[in-house]
Amino acid sequence: MKKVKHGGNIYEIAEKLGIKMEEIIDFSANINPLGVPKRFKEALIKNIDSIENYPDPEYHQLIQAIAEKYHIPREYITVGNGATEVIFSMISSLKPKKSMLIAPTFGEYERALVRAGSNIQYYNLKEENDFAVEQDILKVIDESFDLVILCNPNNPTSQLIEKNIMVKILKHCRKNNVYLMLDEAFIDFVDEPKKETMLLYIKEYKNLFIIKALTKFYAIPGLRIGYGITSNCRLLKSMNDHKEPWTINSYAAMAGMVLKDQIYINKSREWIISERKAFFNELKKINKIKVYKPNGNYILFKLLEHKTDLKEALLKNKILIRSCSNYKNLDHSFYRIAIKDKKSNEIFIKALKEVLYEG
Ligand SMILES: Cc1ncc(COP(=O)(O)O)c(C=O)c1O
Repeated sequence: MKKVKHGGNIYEIAEKLGIKMEEIIDFSANINPLGVPKRFKEALIKNIDSIENYPDPEYHQLIQAIAEKYHIPREYITVGNGATEVIFSMISSLKPKKSMLIAPTFGEYERALVRAGSNIQYYNLKEENDFAVEQDILKVIDESFDLVILCNPNNPTSQLIEKNIMVKILKHCRKNNVYLMLDEAFIDFVDEPKKETMLLYIKEYKNLFIIKALTKFYAIPGLRIGYGITSNCRLLKSMNDHKEPWTINSYAAMAGMVLKDQIYINKSREWIISERKAFFNELKKINKIKVYKPNGNYILFKLLEHKTDLKEALLKNKILIRSCSNYKNLDHSFYRIAIKDKKSNEIFIKALKEVLYEG
């Protein structure tokens, strides 16, 4: 099984360029530029000695924080070493014979399905419709499927699935005895997270499994902390029965406190709402690229004249972006960039214009 290349590999790039990691402006990983919430950082430092003990194998404190945040029973929650562990664990417990993936989407779903021996059918998102998931997906999903996986907003397209279509898909899946895994790892960045999330349907729909993570919004990818939510207690029990103990370390187990950090949450929301608009508007003015209107904290764009390897060209300015050439249904003319702080975004626009118009 092949490894998927992801964004964020600044180690490899720094070595290749012979520079320090800190010199790279990393637009390839979609992480909140506000950084680790200050109060959480202080708590980590204060509790440094907690690594002398094993973490609580039931992760009571963490699960309680998630339950309180979303007003859901603790019994609906499973936690993992990043969203990635939850994705693999759900799929290996469910053992779907036939699954549906949209294309393009996050690469680890496919790896987890291949590992579980699932037959995969792809629903290709159309470039001419800005990679939207459309109502015609309902015609493809039937009782021959065991699992459909959707990502909302989708990575790398940054497109949201229209709420009414999403609800129809969920209902249609239940009617056909199909599970729906819905990855909401980036939902906190969208304009109206409460309106877009499908959490309200969790209690009633036992075929729904929602994935979330603290990784992106709270800027802690190195800590590895994600969770799954479902009212399907049988599925959760099977996942928990198969899980290795202590995959979440003592520091990650403390991270539930960030969910209550309203000052950080408000500041992050202010940043994303203003920078997404500003960055998108500047990119739109560049006539050598087509930019897809973003909903998450990252932007997909297409190079219209493909003369340059843009990733290599920008690396000369120590700017790292994500080439989308290894995504199914995209090619080497597509790139994904994170929305960062104002100054970094301005540096990016300037460097991109230089490469495209002067290079
Ligand atoms: C859509 C999506 N889900 C899940 C993940 C994995 O998150 P984590 O780092 O918490 O495992 C990623 C990582 O890029 C992602 O893009």
